[in-house]
Amino acid sequence: MTTPLNIAAFPQARLSRLRQQDWLRDLIQEHHVQVHDLIWSIIVRDTSLPATINTMPGLIRYTVEELPKVITDAHNLGIKAIALFTAIPFAQKCNQAKLILDDQSLLYQAIRTIKAACPDMGVISDVALDPFTAHGQDCLISDGRVQNDATLAVLAQAAVLQAKSGADIIAPSDMMDGRVKVIRSALDEHGYINTAIAAYSAKYASSFYSPYRDAVNTNACLGRADKKTYQMNPGNGREAEHEVMADLAEGSDIIIIKPGLSYLDIVKRISQLTPAPVISFQVSGEYSMLKFAAANGALNYEQALMEQLISFKRAGARAVITYAALDAAQIMRSQQ
Ligand code: PBG
Repeated sequence: MTTPLNIAAFPQARLSRLRQQDWLRDLIQEHHVQVHDLIWSIIVRDTSLPATINTMPGLIRYTVEELPKVITDAHNLGIKAIALFTAIPFAQKCNQAKLILDDQSLLYQAIRTIKAACPDMGVISDVALDPFTAHGQDCLISDGRVQNDATLAVLAQAAVLQAKSGADIIAPSDMMDGRVKVIRSALDEHGYINTAIAAYSAKYASSFYSPYRDAVNTNACLGRADKKTYQMNPGNGREAEHEVMADLAEGSDIIIIKPGLSYLDIVKRISQLTPAPVISFQVSGEYSMLKFAAANGALNYEQALMEQLISFKRAGARAVITYAALDAAQIMRSQQ
């Protein structure tokens, strides 16, 4: 006679049951990253600057001339939108950020070139003064203080020039108060009623931006200065809701949260607060951390990248801006 099994000793709920086969794991997977979730963050450079920088391994800053091929190749890989930034030499910067209002300058050449080569590539164009100011701040400064309202006038004009050059979405990234409203009004007045605004509503004063500041040549301009009087305090969560509500009321169509990984709680919070699309930005420092860690054998770049990208989706982001979009697109293609 066999001893009866002590049923009570066995767990009946075994969550691991559904993890035993690949097909079953795939079948019940809740979230997915697809190539059309990715917005490729690209930096266009003046020809006097080198293509690469030490603090962002693998990143190439492109010249305007290189854009038609690069953008067409990305589109062929399935990338449908880019977030555009520009790097100019110090000699072209000034305290008034004059170049942002020159429609013959690098930024506007880049937008027109991209749209001419690949009209279907969505162009999300950054509107902020920092790549163009000699002091490296995102705004006009006088008497050592941020001139919020004077900056708004420049942003509005720049947004109109960008729309005129072909930008589909205007992305104000400077955290000035009231910028969405003036940009929306200026776009509408000039007939660009369908040019959308994606506001960087909750943008934190973060150390993870440092490699980007190398890439657009602003670290040297900033010196020891920071942006804590206008970018958000990392210690605040609810304040992000306040920022987002203000930007939505001013007419922002899309909300961007930045940086990414350290602020997934904010992505979650905001995606629950508003039905408007929320986009997360995996910023330069996050990209570089992955690259440097992988280069030193600490982790596998491809796997770690895809795990991070899915975490943005899980937190509630509709899309992710990333410097690694091409890498991710290639990884996904190779897994098909
Ligand atoms: C500022 C701006 C920043 C980034 C893009 N535009 C932040 C900053 O320099 O304060 C950061 C992007 C990144 O780190 O990838 N307008």
